[in-house]
Amino acid sequence: LVLVLDFGSQTAQLIARRIRDLNVFCQLVRHDISAERVKELAPRGIILSGGPASVYGEKAPKCDPEIFNLGIPVLGICYGMQLTCQALGGVVRAGTTREFGRTELTTLEDHPLVAGLPATSTVWMSHGDQVQQAGDEFIPIASTHSCPMAAVRHRSRQIFGLQFHPEVTHSEYGKQLLENFLRKCCGCAGTWQIESLIEQQVTAIRARVGNSRVICGLSGGVDSSVVAALLYKAIGSQLSCIFVDNGLLRKGECEKVRERFQNHFKTDLHVVDASHRFLSELAGVVDPQQKRKIIGRVFIEVFRKEAESITDARFLAQGTLYPDVIESGGSPDGPAATIKYHHNVGGLPEQLGFELIEPLRDLFKDEVRRMGLALGLSEELIWRHPFPGPGLGVRCLGGITSERLHALREADAIVLEELRKAGLYRTIQQAFAVILPVQSVGVMGDGRTYEETIAVRAVTTDDFMTADWYPLPYDLMRIISTRIINEVRGVNRVVYDISSKPPSTIEWE
Ligand code: XMP
Repeated sequence: LVLVLDFGSQTAQLIARRIRDLNVFCQLVRHDISAERVKELAPRGIILSGGPASVYGEKAPKCDPEIFNLGIPVLGICYGMQLTCQALGGVVRAGTTREFGRTELTTLEDHPLVAGLPATSTVWMSHGDQVQQAGDEFIPIASTHSCPMAAVRHRSRQIFGLQFHPEVTHSEYGKQLLENFLRKCCGCAGTWQIESLIEQQVTAIRARVGNSRVICGLSGGVDSSVVAALLYKAIGSQLSCIFVDNGLLRKGECEKVRERFQNHFKTDLHVVDASHRFLSELAGVVDPQQKRKIIGRVFIEVFRKEAESITDARFLAQGTLYPDVIESGGSPDGPAATIKYHHNVGGLPEQLGFELIEPLRDLFKDEVRRMGLALGLSEELIWRHPFPGPGLGVRCLGGITSERLHALREADAIVLEELRKAGLYRTIQQAFAVILPVQSVGVMGDGRTYEETIAVRAVTTDDFMTADWYPLPYDLMRIISTRIINEVRGVNRVVYDISSKPPSTIEWE
């Protein structure tokens, strides 16, 4: 185990991800974790992350200084390095030049931390402050043009600092540096696998749940499926799943969820058909935020009623992921700056009266996928494109009626089927059809038509925060357009969305 002390979540999560990629188990913990607690956890190494604060600022987040006296190797990165040096007698000040972006690192010493690095390499810097005097305690092992102490080691203890960010891919030998720290300084073997995490979670879930029943809401997506599979492995028939059909699902979705469930689980499944309720509450509503609110409220009401019918349930399992946690600002009093409000956070409200189980809370999406595969879920399920909670409700622009939803569902199915056939489904991260609130004139046979328009969207993205429209081959566009117009009643026009995010968003509403 390696602990990453979180001084600013974006860099901390990236560090954690790199460490896990090196097959070393790591956990992110609050920056102010006590040295006592660290001792109990007995990690082989401690990493102090970067962060947005300045160490001499009034509210600068600090760590327990006793951490440096535990005899556990410590690596401070950027802010973490400044904090480390400050705690051990160094002086941190604003540098004469701020350094952001790529810069050249020169190694000064033949040390295990920099083993395998050439004399000069590119690293990624992002700092205004830097260590000005490291006292007598620290010795520089690498420098850059404007930062003489870009990498340092403690004279006698296993304590190191890097002013640059080894966790970002722009730092050429960043991975090597982290690996050197883990293997050569901490003695980590690098044998940790996702299977070990499954075992740990299974044990933890069993211990927490005892003989109680757990409810898990299924959405048909990856995260909730992995949560369900993990819980099923841990507690078998003590698991009850609820799937709400809100009438805004894709073609065949409800049947598919049922079928998948029955292939994998032999436990209680409640499929609630609430489509009439949703559609009647949505009738005549065109405002996107209003739609979201209605869909959210009705979902909670329907879910609550069904959950109450499961009398002995004490826990509710949710598929919250680590990026969901940090993007909303992390813990309320944590040091990360809030980046954006994320749709998936919050989920069901606490008033439902259940204790929450969130077994994916420390994981990144790709780890959830690996976990799902290791739990025996199908590739097809694991690599599904994300689908928003409000479903087709936010892809049916203008008024929502069952006729318009039907047309949208059919068009969407054609888009996805053709992408799969063309072998592009995995290249593109999200693709779908949207039905526009625009009717236009067409000619079919000898007659004039005045019918609906379908927009097709396909984007590539790393994190869904930014996205590029994907240049679909013309032949494929032609097939999609022809099929939609021929096969979907009420549609006489298909357009392709060529906007990137930003300034557009991925969804149209
Ligand atoms: P945008 O449209 O904001 O979408 O670029 C980014 C990602 O979030 C999904 N999305 C939602 N997911 N509830 C959800 O659960 C929502 O209300 C919602 N709106 C957008 C979207 O599909 C994309 O993957």
